[in-house]
Amino acid sequence: MYNHQLHQQINTVLQNEQIDIGGKDNHFFTRFIANATAIDALFHEIYGRNETGTHSFDQLIHLITRAYLQRPDQLLVRDADKGAKGNWFLSSDLAAMSLYVDRFGGNLKGLAGKLDYFQQLGVNFLHLMPVFESPEGESDGGYAVSDFRKVDQRFGTLSDLRELQRRMQKEGMYLMLDIVLNHTSHHHEWAAKAKAGDKKYQDYFYMYDNRQLPDQFDRSMPEIFPESAPGNFTWNEEMQKWVMTVFHRYQWDLNYTNPQVFLEMLDHVFFYANLGVDILRIDAPAFIWKQPGTTCQNLPQAHTLLRLIKQCVEISAPGMALLGEAIVAPNEIMKYFGTGLYKARECDFAYNATHMALQWDALATGDTRVMLAAQHEILQKPYGSSWITYTRCHDDIGQGYDDYMIQHAGFNPFEHRRFLKDYFSGARQDSPARGALFSVNPKTNDARISGSLASLCGLEKALAEQNEFSIQQSIAKILLMQAHSFFLGGLPMIFYGDELGYTNDYSYLQDPGKSYDNRWMHRPVIDWTKNERINEEGTIEYQVFQATKKLIQIRKKLFAIGDYKNLTWMTPHNIHIAGYLRTFEDQKIYCLFNFSDQDAYLTWFAFKEHGAAPSTLYDHWNEQETEMGYDHQYLVLKPYQFMLLEAK
Ligand code: GLC
Repeated sequence: MYNHQLHQQINTVLQNEQIDIGGKDNHFFTRFIANATAIDALFHEIYGRNETGTHSFDQLIHLITRAYLQRPDQLLVRDADKGAKGNWFLSSDLAAMSLYVDRFGGNLKGLAGKLDYFQQLGVNFLHLMPVFESPEGESDGGYAVSDFRKVDQRFGTLSDLRELQRRMQKEGMYLMLDIVLNHTSHHHEWAAKAKAGDKKYQDYFYMYDNRQLPDQFDRSMPEIFPESAPGNFTWNEEMQKWVMTVFHRYQWDLNYTNPQVFLEMLDHVFFYANLGVDILRIDAPAFIWKQPGTTCQNLPQAHTLLRLIKQCVEISAPGMALLGEAIVAPNEIMKYFGTGLYKARECDFAYNATHMALQWDALATGDTRVMLAAQHEILQKPYGSSWITYTRCHDDIGQGYDDYMIQHAGFNPFEHRRFLKDYFSGARQDSPARGALFSVNPKTNDARISGSLASLCGLEKALAEQNEFSIQQSIAKILLMQAHSFFLGGLPMIFYGDELGYTNDYSYLQDPGKSYDNRWMHRPVIDWTKNERINEEGTIEYQVFQATKKLIQIRKKLFAIGDYKNLTWMTPHNIHIAGYLRTFEDQKIYCLFNFSDQDAYLTWFAFKEHGAAPSTLYDHWNEQETEMGYDHQYLVLKPYQFMLLEAK
């Protein structure tokens, strides 16, 4: 809806800033006017139409303009290139890795010296785990930020980061960084001022003189780290106040009911955009709005704020996509892509956390029925948005899917979940997995799983037992898991170390800043002597690395693997096999995965249910051609085997 008054208001600001609306800045101006009504509505929905709201809205218009003016020329060109490509991030050309700068390459300079390693693997997108200042020992892996603009000295300097970005861009690579929107470290300047009694900054957080509101909140808020950080509030001696700390005690929740908090954080968003970030990972967006009597997760206002951020970013930094890190229930995750008018206009990406957990479910049970029971939800993702697909990341694996999905598959949810926990923590004698329970909550029976891809797939145990058969089987499982997530649709995000099979690292137990958090067991310190074995034929490192590389190569070759709402699940003729079809124009790829430790038989009829049946299939993985059989005959997949069959 056009709003004349708003148009005038924006024009005045732009004229004062000497924006050339009819000339070189015309695209910016057009985007501004196009999004203005939405921004106005979203902003005032949260902050109201009153004097404070009006003043803050004015600041917002200035902020958007300044962000654009500060955008480096090279990024303006990149924005235009991406714009010309359309949905640049849906392509199967992209393959990503998530890593800790220090644990992978020492520091930012060290990492810049390792770009050829990524090229060798085929990775062209890096997610650097948080690099901004975060107090050692109270850092939550960098997610407790004490300065949003200062690179932590452990990693180097801001100019090292800029240099890395420039080099990556030159090499055709993309960059993802985090903005930790929900909280700051209690050592952040705002928290320090609040502690010193500054009322203005106390209003940047949620703090209370007594337990009345904290108790009210606590009654309906779940605990995120019930073992290491129970409750949601922490008593602060200096202020004599209770501070909301949903995650760790040293992470203070920001109060977005205060428009100044929103504006300051949006300014940081723009700062990252202008560093050349291609995807901004918005950490924990589900938590940014709090209301007593609710779980304080996934509230409508959290979505309003994200939509607002998206519309603003689209004006000043249109080349930067947003990833909402919402690890919540399946139907809630979907809402981060936007709903109603905002469908595909909120977060461009979300983690396919539901599917990730379901892959682990299928691996443990050898049964794909729960995975299938959840697809009607996952497939709702709107065209133009995409998933981060993954098997492992720096966090734990939750069992976030719904009980009814487990019931649909014919299992008892309580027993089923218990089985999975016992299986992956290695509590069951018959389990090859070596993981651990994370954040056990005896009140709710909830627990999540820590452990590396390789250890959860049995490699750690197999190596300890020097059992060659089990070693090979673990490798087959690692590749099955990776292949399944690489071809599903979305941007595959490999967690560093998994590309060559790193098992758990228990050294975190010796570090008091980490020992309380067993997620560190799957965050390895890269040993480059070990990594050199990726070139030594016969080693495990060689097998896993070369196979991962081959998967990426196949992905890049096949246009139909891009994420164009072109995924169809095949009818489940065999519960052990997950099969999906990826199509684009006349390209048709049948991806089949046997999640069981037995041979699995698939009727050839399965290939005839989706349009014309091909007569020949080419398996890109085994590089073999197969003739289509008769309906009474079967295609046989060996234990943990997968096939990537293109219809010829
Ligand atoms: C996100 C991060 C996680 C962190 C939490 C709090 O979920 O992925 O590692 O502990 O946010 O910032």
